[in-house]
Amino acid sequence: MAILKIARMGHLVLQQKAEEVEDPTASEIHRLINDMNETLDDVGGIGLAAPQVHEGQRVVIYYEPGRTDEEDAKELTVLINPVIKPLDEEVEVGWESCLSLPGLTGAVPRHTHICYTGLTPEGEEFEREAHGFHARVLQHECDHLDGILYPMRMTNMAYFGFAEEMRERGAPAKDDDEEGEEQ
Ligand code: NI
Repeated sequence: MAILKIARMGHLVLQQKAEEVEDPTASEIHRLINDMNETLDDVGGIGLAAPQVHEGQRVVIYYEPGRTDEEDAKELTVLINPVIKPLDEEVEVGWESCLSLPGLTGAVPRHTHICYTGLTPEGEEFEREAHGFHARVLQHECDHLDGILYPMRMTNMAYFGFAEEMRERGAPAKDDDEEGEEQ
């Protein structure tokens, strides 16, 4: 296990399309997932995509908002080669922040209801739905796999700035709740 360096906005790895994972069960993919897990726990965010740790592979990990196990610990979800489809036309604007843009936040329009497919680290296919903030986290993470950072999705750049300055305008504080956590 290792804590990996997180790429920040401006690094080309964040602007490139990541490659499909051919074998989700390969030891190097499981090593990457373990290292991403350790990195996310070290830095204390809600989600992380492989390009953020300089690996151009279609792998994302995140803590599913609101979901905990019996011991009240957050459960980590791993998605390989994820594909997102909106379920309807509904779009909501909400605050986002990103480990690759530390300290910044912005109001981003995202689909409210999505379905998503992908592979587990065991190589099993799945199809699920997500709504609200869960759907937002997934869209943010999967955008990283296509070289898209959240400011590129914003429609009003007046709502982009440092989280500490934006708090009075409704942005969540980093330690307040899940919605303030970087991803
Ligand atoms: Ni991010």
